[in-house]
Amino acid sequence: MSRGLDNAAVRSEYIIAAPMAAAMGAEVCGIDLGRLDDHPHADACFAEIEAALYRHGLLVFRDQSLDHASQEAFTLRFGEHGVDAYTEGIAGHPNVQPVIREPGPLRSAFFGLGWHTDSPFLPEPPAISMLRSVEVPPFGGDTMYANSRLALDSLSAGMKQLLTGLRGLYGRSHIARAVDITKANPDAPFDVAPVEADLIGAMSHPLVRTHPVTGERALYVDATYTVGIEGLTRAEAKPILEFLLRHVTQPLFQSRLRWAPNTLAIWDNRLVLHQAFDDFESPRREMYRTTVLGEVPV
Ligand code: SIN
Repeated sequence: MSRGLDNAAVRSEYIIAAPMAAAMGAEVCGIDLGRLDDHPHADACFAEIEAALYRHGLLVFRDQSLDHASQEAFTLRFGEHGVDAYTEGIAGHPNVQPVIREPGPLRSAFFGLGWHTDSPFLPEPPAISMLRSVEVPPFGGDTMYANSRLALDSLSAGMKQLLTGLRGLYGRSHIARAVDITKANPDAPFDVAPVEADLIGAMSHPLVRTHPVTGERALYVDATYTVGIEGLTRAEAKPILEFLLRHVTQPLFQSRLRWAPNTLAIWDNRLVLHQAFDDFESPRREMYRTTVLGEVPV
């Protein structure tokens, strides 16, 4: 199944989806997510939201009145909460992860750095992530997204054939090492380049994965966690991964989210990559993230 560069909204009854870019993403209006359960056609409305997410990869809802509990409740409509490998959540809401950047000088190591899909080093990586803004800088602190479904679609038949059946290796030991180095010496460059030893114990998933609902195939490769390709040495895999990453993250395949307070962004980690920037010193950026448990990638 191939649909190329097609991010047009489809007809819907309860929501209005306005595409954000040619490649992906849509802003959705006409719905108060915190009161979705009170909507006279709540299930039909949710079904439209879910279909829009799989179509656009990223949905953005502005001026929402969600709190931790209602964000959790909305997350649970998609499925069980995902495992978070990084934080234990906030008091009383273990499934709500704080993503908070306090004012201070620019730094090279921060949460969300580099193009990534969430936690592919897990056996069942989060399918969907949601990020809710409370406080954001007036400019800076955007999140970028790239469409890995479109990226696969646009490869040559020969390249697709070469990738079919290959399994990527996903780890985070190289990230932990880089974090330790910058903790010991904050002036050291944050170098996350993996080495051969990082392939040992890394999780293996298909490099081209199939979406469990739509059946669409997408590249499953990122800059942060993809450390190799099963059966290939690091030196053999590196140029292939570098090419694929450059390909997925080309500007044509991207969309950029400029935050305002009370925005909820939802993205499908099986279809898109994302990355954050540390490009502002103040004020505080306060966000809360929830995830939906995914399946074993196939
Ligand atoms: C993330 O990587 O989930 C966080 C993205 C962001 O802070 O914009």
